[in-house]
Amino acid sequence: MNILAIESSCDETAASVISNSRVLSNIISSQHFHSKYGGVIPELASRAHLASISLVVREALTKAEKNIEEMNAIAVTTEPGLIGSLIVGSNFAKGLSIKYNLPIIPVNHLEGHLYSGNIQDETIVLPYIALVVSGGHTALFKVESYSKYKVLGSTVDDASGEAFDKIGTMLGLPYPAGPEIDKLAKTGNPRAYVFPRGMLHSGNYNFSFSGLKTSVRYFLEKQFPQGLPEDKLSDVCASVQEAIVDVLVKKSIDASVEYNVKHLIIAGGVSANSCLRKRATDLAKLQGIKVVVLNPDYCIDNAAMIGFIAEKRLLENGPDAYQDLTFKVNASSLRAKRKK
Ligand code: KG4
Ligand code: ZN
Repeated sequence: MNILAIESSCDETAASVISNSRVLSNIISSQHFHSKYGGVIPELASRAHLASISLVVREALTKAEKNIEEMNAIAVTTEPGLIGSLIVGSNFAKGLSIKYNLPIIPVNHLEGHLYSGNIQDETIVLPYIALVVSGGHTALFKVESYSKYKVLGSTVDDASGEAFDKIGTMLGLPYPAGPEIDKLAKTGNPRAYVFPRGMLHSGNYNFSFSGLKTSVRYFLEKQFPQGLPEDKLSDVCASVQEAIVDVLVKKSIDASVEYNVKHLIIAGGVSANSCLRKRATDLAKLQGIKVVVLNPDYCIDNAAMIGFIAEKRLLENGPDAYQDLTFKVNASSLRAKRKK
């Protein structure tokens, strides 16, 4: 079984070939130019996807040493994401499906992240808890099978990656600021300043990061009206990171303990954060829970995760379920529950 997968929901143009759950290629072209605007500009993102998608798809097939005629299906991200970006990937996939008479498997981007741990670790035991943390999403899931999962909670305002990025902008760091804050925090004192841990004791699995953002803004205005001195930057970064990581880790471990799971998977761009990885791994170990941290190419948006779950769906539902399928792209969707 060979699947060609395409992902273009935000600012990564990505394509991958998956063969019997193995990743034969995973090509990611990141649109770094958004950095100079301090965030992703949707119209520019769609145009950049258009410019690179055919090259990225070709490279994925070449690297996998496969022809498109050898594919059994095309998988594509259809939700959630930037509408223009989703349309580019979906139309490209639709064009290929018509030309080569291949079924299309529409995939929810978050479901891709949810199951991405299984690509690199075949020993993950169901059910497991998945924390999906990125620039657009922050949510906790209980995953019961490849077709059944439950949203335990999600952010009520900003995503955790968005908090890293917006606070980074206040600190004069380039976009996306998450990796930079991670790096600077290594030489800072995480207890130098105390910032709010939103909803830490809310008694549910929801998150909130906008209060942290506001608190850092007031802190900077009050404490450093002339601008943050260079020698305080790493302390502020470490303290901000600590506040975000504290909440993410506590809720993930609480959920893992409550549902008595053996594995906790941390996925999405923010899962690259070194403090989050270490803290979650260490604390989970005390509870006998294994944390699955992903290889960098599976943390960021990628098409391997889209192809991986699409292949499971194709095996479960059969190709007829996807023949002549009409589908729509959908900018926002975090369905409360998805049951087959
Ligand atoms: O999943 P992703 O590549 O794209 C989406 O947002 O869907 O995630 C990007 C986000 C950005 O907010 C970026 O700042 C954050 O992931 N990020 C990090 C780190 N690496 C990337 N945040 C904290 N620490 C990192 N090391
Ligand atoms: Zn993502």
